Amino acid sequence: MNILVTGGAGYIGSHTIISLIDNGFSVIVIDNFCSGHIEATDAVSKYENEKIKVYDGDFSDAGLLDDIIKRHNINGVIHFAAHSLVGESMDEPLKYYKNNVAKTILFLEFLKKSGINNFVFSSSAAVYGTSDKNPIDEASPLNPINAYGNTKLVVENILGSMDRAYGFKYISLRYFNAAGANKSGQIGEDHNPETHLIPRVLKSVATGENKAVVFGNDYPTDDGTAIRDYIHVDDLSYAHVLSLKFLIENEKSKSGAYNLGYEKGYSVMDVLGKIEEITGKKLKVEFTGRREGDPAILVASHEKIKKELGFEFKYNICDIISSAWNWHSNHPNGFSKAQA
Ligand SMILES: NC(=O)c1ccc[n+]([C@@H]2O[C@H](COP(=O)([O-])OP(=O)(O)OC[C@H]3O[C@@H](n4cnc5c(N)ncnc54)[C@H](O)[C@@H]3O)[C@@H](O)[C@H]2O)c1
Repeated sequence: MNILVTGGAGYIGSHTIISLIDNGFSVIVIDNFCSGHIEATDAVSKYENEKIKVYDGDFSDAGLLDDIIKRHNINGVIHFAAHSLVGESMDEPLKYYKNNVAKTILFLEFLKKSGINNFVFSSSAAVYGTSDKNPIDEASPLNPINAYGNTKLVVENILGSMDRAYGFKYISLRYFNAAGANKSGQIGEDHNPETHLIPRVLKSVATGENKAVVFGNDYPTDDGTAIRDYIHVDDLSYAHVLSLKFLIENEKSKSGAYNLGYEKGYSVMDVLGKIEEITGKKLKVEFTGRREGDPAILVASHEKIKKELGFEFKYNICDIISSAWNWHSNHPNGFSKAQA
């Protein structure tokens, strides 16, 4: 079976390709490399080059899409491609609505016209905004507090309407904090700029700076720092495979949204403590003000995906940090200067 993957050269996309191939799928990637890395798809191609074909282009380019479906019979789609920097989305909302919403509408229109179904969408915990209740379940109010979260919610709503009107089958996966790296050590997290805690600090350790900047230590939590639910990127990747299998194997399957997190929260200070343990380095911690729009606590309820899709989580926070450290210590400059 062939799966069309938009954004396959990105962090989560490249990990998911490995999981798809490991589970017997062939993969067709569209990526314009605006934030992804050719080195990531190259690394995966070396791993299984018969099963992956990469197209350099925009996922809303109808000519490219036409060409792809002439060459490949597509059985399902995973739509990762998006802009995803929360701060930037507040400063440049149109850039976000254009790429994440307007282009996604063109893409969905093309899929509908071509009779392609079984769609897995990269959504986000950002659709919940600040929730009073933790863990957050899927029935919790959807109140994004930034433009990025809004773009994800708009697409979820469009998918709901398409299901009702055309029977378009989809699953939206609402990721909490993705982190970690594949055990191969060949691919890992390399965003620019990097806004995520674990890669920021591990990069600093890998370059000998050993610095950790903490945004806010006056939250209503035990140690005053924000609590998040981290999920290993390989658990996340497998959830996409399972979602696709569910859609493909059950023609009458119900569309829906599922949270992906461990139902366990770690404060920033908890994470820094684990980083010190795993890397053996003492961190120089610097406290600064809260980042706008950062809620105190975000922890997922994961009962729904366990019950309805039979998903089982394999990893924990120590696996996340060790695998990420394996990647960053061997790639202190990310993909650009591997093995520096
Ligand atoms: N990383 C996280 O913790 C997290 C959490 C929640 C949701 N998400 C969502 O998961 C998805 C993947 O996130 P990531 O961290 O891997 O991001 P990423 O930036 O590493 O990957 C996104 C990929 O999409 C590509 N892309 C963007 N716009 C494109 C376009 N118009 N045409 C073709 N390719 C395009 C980029 O080049 C990149 O390879 C995103 O939709 C993001 O919003 C990520």
